[in-house]
Amino acid sequence: MARNFWQQLDTPFTVLAPMEDVTDFVFREIIAQTAPPNVFFTEFTNVAGLMSEGRKVVAQRLKFSEKQRPIVAQIWGTDPKNYYEGAKLVAEMGFDGVDINMGCPQRNVVKQGAGAGLIETPKLAAEIIESTKEGVLAAEGAEKIPVSVKTRLGFKKIITKEWAEFLLKQDIAALTMHGRTQGQMSKVPANWDEIKKVVKARDEIAPETVIIGNGDVADHKEAVKKAKKYGVDGVMIGRGIFTNPWAFEKAPIEHTPKEHLDLLLKHTKLFVDTWETKKNFAIMKKFFKVYVRGFEGASTLRAGLMGCESLEEVETIVEKFMNKNF
Ligand SMILES: Cc1cc2nc3c(=O)[nH]c(=O)nc-3n(C[C@H](O)[C@H](O)[C@H](O)COP(=O)(O)O)c2cc1C
Repeated sequence: MARNFWQQLDTPFTVLAPMEDVTDFVFREIIAQTAPPNVFFTEFTNVAGLMSEGRKVVAQRLKFSEKQRPIVAQIWGTDPKNYYEGAKLVAEMGFDGVDINMGCPQRNVVKQGAGAGLIETPKLAAEIIESTKEGVLAAEGAEKIPVSVKTRLGFKKIITKEWAEFLLKQDIAALTMHGRTQGQMSKVPANWDEIKKVVKARDEIAPETVIIGNGDVADHKEAVKKAKKYGVDGVMIGRGIFTNPWAFEKAPIEHTPKEHLDLLLKHTKLFVDTWETKKNFAIMKKFFKVYVRGFEGASTLRAGLMGCESLEEVETIVEKFMNKNF
């Protein structure tokens, strides 16, 4: 059965960006309970890794819950055969969509010709899209989920029109455009005028493809403004969530320090309870600044929390702070 959830979303819609070691199962579960976006993405998962001996650890990235639907699994790599198998697996796992990463700027990824490296090899990019679609079609007892691409304006040079037109000719369900090149990493402001060119190309070439703009959007309110101004169907938010776990709230309200700290405790507990292969507690520490900011005593509390190595230590310090201050 074919099902394209992208076509069923009310516009403009919001999407939580895939972010390595950030938007894992646990953080998505927290966001799903606070103010969910309309669509979730997993962190990028390597297709060769999914086929390897160590696949059990790699597959942890693909854990999701019903609260996180619709959820898209993002995959990356260079070998079309692995994309075929990866897409088949993802469809059989019950994901709502599969997305191909053609935007990661990191050296170790690009060096292999993967991520944003694929912008330089359009023929391979097209083969990968085709294999991914075939993998979805081969999935047993699963729905024929939509295939999408997330990419950038170009590799070193901005080639938005040429690159977007090429991708749109590959018949993809959705295209997310991050308004920077690989070379720009995240160092310059996102160029939304370029993203507008993708919308124009879509209107001319592939009216069925959904366009999602991405780059420097703080919250839902700004997402709606951007969609209106640049004509995209949806807006993806990444780092906005670092400073506001309620970034997707449609009618924003001020959240109290206690609400932030309750969320921190919930997140830490779920982090510790979730992973079969224990994740390093240092990964959890990256989230402290998400919740502990913007209130009196926050920086001292954060400094204290950085020394913690367990849930129990976090609970003790937060409890002490709450008893003293609230
Ligand atoms: C820590 C971090 C990890 C990221 N990991 C991924 C990833 O796995 N896949 C991907 O397509 N983009 C990844 N990105 C890029 C984001 O999805 C997004 O395109 C970028 O942050 C721009 O959006 P923003 O300005 O809203 O943050 C990552 C970004 C950050 C900051």
